[in-house]
Amino acid sequence: MNAWTASRIRTTKGRQKLACLTAYDFTTARLVDESGAPLILVGDSLAMTVLGYDNTLPVTMDEMLHHVKAVTRGVKQALVVADMPFLSFQISVEDAIRNAGRFLKEARAGAVKIEGGATRATTVRALTDNGIPVLGHIGLTPQSINAMGGYKVQGRRPEEAQRLLDDAKALEGAGIFALVLECMPPALADEITRAVQVPTIGIGAGPHCDGQILVTPDLLGMHGSVHPKFVKEYAALGTAMQQAFQAYRDDVENGRFPTAEHCY
Ligand code: KIV
Repeated sequence: MNAWTASRIRTTKGRQKLACLTAYDFTTARLVDESGAPLILVGDSLAMTVLGYDNTLPVTMDEMLHHVKAVTRGVKQALVVADMPFLSFQISVEDAIRNAGRFLKEARAGAVKIEGGATRATTVRALTDNGIPVLGHIGLTPQSINAMGGYKVQGRRPEEAQRLLDDAKALEGAGIFALVLECMPPALADEITRAVQVPTIGIGAGPHCDGQILVTPDLLGMHGSVHPKFVKEYAALGTAMQQAFQAYRDDVENGRFPTAEHCY
């Protein structure tokens, strides 16, 4: 069993800030794990970052399973959380248990993530009662982009903020081990963080959360200059990759690669 488990993540509340990241493939997962990240999410952001879809809705259970398997092969320490894709948990509780169970049984994930608030409490309770740890996710929930009318900051109006606070408490009551807060004012994230006993993990939710998560290709600067305001780029890999590909092409076209040192 990996050093980081859902129950260990739960115990970090108020003691340790959690620096979490996403991963979608073996090599990146191994590098993120070696950096000491406690939690690695195989997000349904896979749909956009790796598979080239416009949003997260099209990604399937089979695509997610394929990538969660690759990630768990690369991870020795971190808790690997598999994101439940759109329509894998909404249709029925039975469906949710079957699909979440596949992530643990076939792909060796340690937990699943589910988007949504109080309306998901029954499903979360059924999963946790069956030994499947659940990471909650409220605020901006990208699977509801059509209902929300776009990627917008959530909880700015008092009634929205109250609903998010109620959602957090309902999910905590249903047994989540931690809660992702996405795109909300820092003051609201702070209030939610103080209102629940489980760690909150923010993305675009300010500094008061118990941890942070970023989409790894965003942090690595692989998507050019277009990214959400909350992203901090720690590298410019997109530019570095383009330069490397162009230098390789230039070398091949001009007979500079391969040379004697690359030959048998
Ligand atoms: O899919 C994802 O990567 C996520 C994170 C942004 C939390 O849900």
